[in-house]
Amino acid sequence: MRTIDWWDGAVRIIDQTRLPQAEIFIDVRDVDELVVHIQSLAVRGAMALGVAGALGMALAATTAARAGDDVDRALDVAAEKLSNARPTAVNLGYGVRAVQRARAEGADVAGVLAAALAIRDEDILANRAIGEAGAAFLHGARRILTHCNAGALAGVEEGTALGVIGHLHRESPLTVVYVCETRPLLQGSRLTAWELSRAGIPHRVIVDSAAAGLILSGEVEAVVVGADRIAANGDVANKVGTVSHALAAHHAGIPFLVAAPESTIDDLTPTGADIPIELRHEDEVLDVLGQRVASPDSRALNPAFDITPAGLVTAIVTQRRLLRDPARNPPRPIANTDAR
Ligand code: MRU
Repeated sequence: MRTIDWWDGAVRIIDQTRLPQAEIFIDVRDVDELVVHIQSLAVRGAMALGVAGALGMALAATTAARAGDDVDRALDVAAEKLSNARPTAVNLGYGVRAVQRARAEGADVAGVLAAALAIRDEDILANRAIGEAGAAFLHGARRILTHCNAGALAGVEEGTALGVIGHLHRESPLTVVYVCETRPLLQGSRLTAWELSRAGIPHRVIVDSAAAGLILSGEVEAVVVGADRIAANGDVANKVGTVSHALAAHHAGIPFLVAAPESTIDDLTPTGADIPIELRHEDEVLDVLGQRVASPDSRALNPAFDITPAGLVTAIVTQRRLLRDPARNPPRPIANTDAR
C-alpha cells in the first residue's frame, strides 16, 4: 500500500481522516481539492506532504496542458497554494520547489511529472535507509516509545520512526512499543497503532500524559520520533507533546532519537524559535468525537507542533548520516537534499 501516489492522471491518497475504521482511497484531480485534503489531514506527515507538494505541481501542469492553458501560470498558482497549505513541515515547500526547479531548467510537462515522481521515489529510498541506520543506533532496545505517526502513513511506503521500529523488530522481536495517543487528532491511536497491528508488532496505546511517568519508571529504553522541520542549530519541530517526551528521556538518561530525511533539515531557518508553528482550530481540542467536552464558553489553544531544543536530542538519523548530539554538531553546513 502506498499512502500517496500518482495514479491514472490523479494524486491518489489514502484518506487518513477515515482510518482505522475505513480504508478509502481518494483520486484527487484538482489542486484546490488537494489543498483541502492537506488541511484536513487526509494526507499528512512531513514526507507525505513533500510528495503531495510535488505531485500537486504535476497535477497543475498536466491539467493546464490538457486544457490548453498556460502551464507556467498554472504552476505559479499551484506553488503558492500548496506551499501555504500548512506552515510547519518544511517538506511541503521542498516538494514544490523541486518541481519548480525542474521546470526552470527546461522540463516539459512530462519532465515536470518525472521530477515529481523522483521526489516520491527519493522518499521511499530515504526511509529504507533511515530505518536501517536508526535501528543500528538503538540496537538492543526492546521497549520503545513513539509519538504521533511517523510511519508509512507519513511517507509513501515506509516511515521514519516506525521504519526504525520495524527494523528493530525484524532483528529481534520487540517487547512493546508505547504509542502515545497524540491528542487532539489521535494520530498515535488511529494511525500508528493501525500500522503496528498490521505489522504484528506488540504495542500499547497510552494517553500522552502517561508517557513521562513510564519513561521515568525505567519502563522505556528509547524514544524515537519523526520531525516536521529541523532548524540549522538542530532544534526539532514535531507534533505537539514531543518536547515533553524529550525532557523525560533526558532526565531518565535514555536515547531520544529523531528520524527524518535530509529534506526535513532546513538550513535557512536558524533556530527552533524561527519555525512557524501551525495553530489549528479550537474545536479540535474542545470537541471529542463530535461532542463538546468543555463548557460552552471555554476557549482553547491548539498549537499542532512544538520545538524540542537540540540539547535534548541524542541523535538525528537521516538517510545519509547519524548526527550525534546535534547541539554540538548542528546539521547546518551540509547540503541538505538529494534533489538539489
Ligand atoms: O499534523 P501531522 O499529523 O501532519 O503531524 C505529523 C507529525 O508531527 C509527524 O510526527 C511528523 O510529520 C514526522 S513523520 C514525517
